Amino acid sequence: MTEIFDEAILLPALSNCLFVKKLYVFREIDSTNDFLKSLCLVHMPPEGTFVYAEKQTKGRGRFSRHWDSPEGKGLWFSCLFMPKTRILNDLEWTQLGVKACQKAIGDLYHIRLNIRWPNDLFYSEKKVGGVLTETVRKKNAIRRVVMGIGINVNQEEKDFDPSIRDHAISLKIALKQKIDRLRLLVQIVRQLEKDYLYPCEHPVKPF
Ligand code: BTN
Repeated sequence: MTEIFDEAILLPALSNCLFVKKLYVFREIDSTNDFLKSLCLVHMPPEGTFVYAEKQTKGRGRFSRHWDSPEGKGLWFSCLFMPKTRILNDLEWTQLGVKACQKAIGDLYHIRLNIRWPNDLFYSEKKVGGVLTETVRKKNAIRRVVMGIGINVNQEEKDFDPSIRDHAISLKIALKQKIDRLRLLVQIVRQLEKDYLYPCEHPVKPF
């Protein structure tokens, strides 16, 4: 049976992640990035606001490409950064996210996913995940970063739309085992937190 996460499950699991200041959890939403961006227009949520959804009906990738986000099969979430001292450009923000996912997955499952520049995670020529960062600038400086992360976790072949079946893969298919999505989520969030808050230990280097 597919486990569906709600606040009662996610809040305690993420309680040790100091960076997580506020959490919104949805069973279904259009896009976690769009929700977080519209939240920023209404009132200023704190840095470290996370939006998690079990399913997205209008998940987006780069260039407004559709991002398939079926219920309970993947990790679809967005987080808010409001950099004050961390000076990164748009691509470096994307790198921060994609490298954190690569490292988190590598540490847990001992596989090395390839990063396809600038934002995709690949396993044997098929896409496992991607990062969509959207920035807001003031006087040319990046003031807000909405970072959306999508990872195909427990899909089987049949769960992928035929149009993407040849190009997409899940960690479950790659590793031939069901993946603990909660453990993976926590590992990714912890890695993001380290790479963002302690850049000297985890510098963003060019590819
Ligand atoms: C890409 O492949 O170009 C990036 C895909 C990013 C998908 C994630 S899923 C969570 C967040 N919400 C979205 O609508 N997109 C990102």
